Amino acid sequence: MNTSHQPENLDQTLDPEDWGELRALGHRIIDDLFDDLQMLRDQPVWRPVPESSRQQLDVELPVEPEGATAAYEDFRRYVSPYSRGNNHPRFWGWVNGSGLPLGILGDLLAAGMNPSVSSFENAANLVEEQVLRWLKQLLGFPQTFSAILTSGSSMSNIIALAVARNLKACGDLRAGGLAASPRRLVLYGSAESHSSIQKAVELLGLGSEALRRIPVDANFRIDLATLNARIDADQQAGLQPFCVIGTVGTVNTGAIDDLDQLADICERRNLWLHVDGAFGALAWLCPEMRPAIGPLQRADSLAFDLHKWMYLPYDVGCVFVRDAAEHRRTFSTTASYLAVAPMHHDAGVQHFADYGIELSRRFRALKVWLCLKAHGARGFECQIRQNVWQARYLEARIQAQRYVQLAAPVSLNVVCFRFASPELSPETTDALNLEIVARMQEEGVVFASYTVLHGRPVIRVAITNHRSRHEDFDRLVGEVVRHGKELLMAPAA
Ligand SMILES: Cc1ncc(COP(=O)(O)O)c(C=O)c1O
Repeated sequence: MNTSHQPENLDQTLDPEDWGELRALGHRIIDDLFDDLQMLRDQPVWRPVPESSRQQLDVELPVEPEGATAAYEDFRRYVSPYSRGNNHPRFWGWVNGSGLPLGILGDLLAAGMNPSVSSFENAANLVEEQVLRWLKQLLGFPQTFSAILTSGSSMSNIIALAVARNLKACGDLRAGGLAASPRRLVLYGSAESHSSIQKAVELLGLGSEALRRIPVDANFRIDLATLNARIDADQQAGLQPFCVIGTVGTVNTGAIDDLDQLADICERRNLWLHVDGAFGALAWLCPEMRPAIGPLQRADSLAFDLHKWMYLPYDVGCVFVRDAAEHRRTFSTTASYLAVAPMHHDAGVQHFADYGIELSRRFRALKVWLCLKAHGARGFECQIRQNVWQARYLEARIQAQRYVQLAAPVSLNVVCFRFASPELSPETTDALNLEIVARMQEEGVVFASYTVLHGRPVIRVAITNHRSRHEDFDRLVGEVVRHGKELLMAPAA
């Protein structure tokens, strides 16, 4: 053996020489973190990343040690002030959650234990199993559904659709790939389905053309007559329809597809019903919202996120699957070094790697477990209800305002609207609204994003924020009107 690289000392470690010093840094980090969170309301929602940070975040690999304190100082200077903004009380962009403080500590504790939550008897596995049981209870699902925590609904969607594809195909797809299916597999979702569905369909080898994007009605819900007709046409053409995707809370407007009708169609035609409830499914926690959601539990699989409308820090999502055995059959592999030997301390826990794509997995469940215990289901129910009512409050404020108009019905927690004035052409109104969104984001007082409805850009507010107060929405409307009027008065360039 060549000994030229042999270290002088075989007992080196990257643990600190002085634990007291790192402990003091740890205390300071916690103090800074909570100081920042407490003072958020008085800070800009978002700030552009300045050139000085960009330069510091584009430096050469540090070869020699700088030390923990210096590394943290750089984080404070160049990274932490320039966040995306979604912890802020007046952030309502895209569908981003606002981060529960106890959840932050949960992630810290999880990293401290540092388990890979896949197999072998250990409490982290049992915590995830318990959290999954609680989540099923929370959403009214039977415990017989299989479940796993994921990085988010993109991952949950692909897991669910993989199970659906393998179960419904008339052939062994795991062995033979799609060539084992005698007929081309096709599936259905509305034109408002999330982009992650298309990504999943492509990655599953089905091809994006296999995803039939069915038009929506005036309320942005999947059009059932067109859906039925398209399934008939595909069957007559010799294709194999295998799945319908319903959305509870579409990303653009928060629309809820008619789950009862979709479940009937799937039952009659022997199709898998997957529900993408990334944020909307959580409205189930409020009993008065359940009629609007419909029978969520008729789904064969459900994807939803806890980092959106349960406010947990990124990332944590979840998927439920009715056919637990098929779920396992889709993902289980038995490598010899992972095989379960009899009498091994492995039999008493769920092997999560058999229910998803990842083998090594973070201890995502801990922050959920802590927050459910601390706030109780009731705490989440009240907070979600508050967001629904805040959306209604904003809707009413918009309806009372001369210069702004609603652009879509408000079903849940998403409000789409436009600044409008009778003398403006639709094209000028489009440009004006995009400029209002950009100016608001840059000024950092309130943060909305935009989407496109019926071909026209609209201002979009998604309220998955446990820090927002109703006065924040007054401020939003005020800012939209102010920017709009200023732009109207600005001399044409
Ligand atoms: C309806 C819907 N589905 C899926 C997703 C993807 O979820 P994630 O970002 O957690 O992967 C989103 C994200 O906004 C969504 O709104």
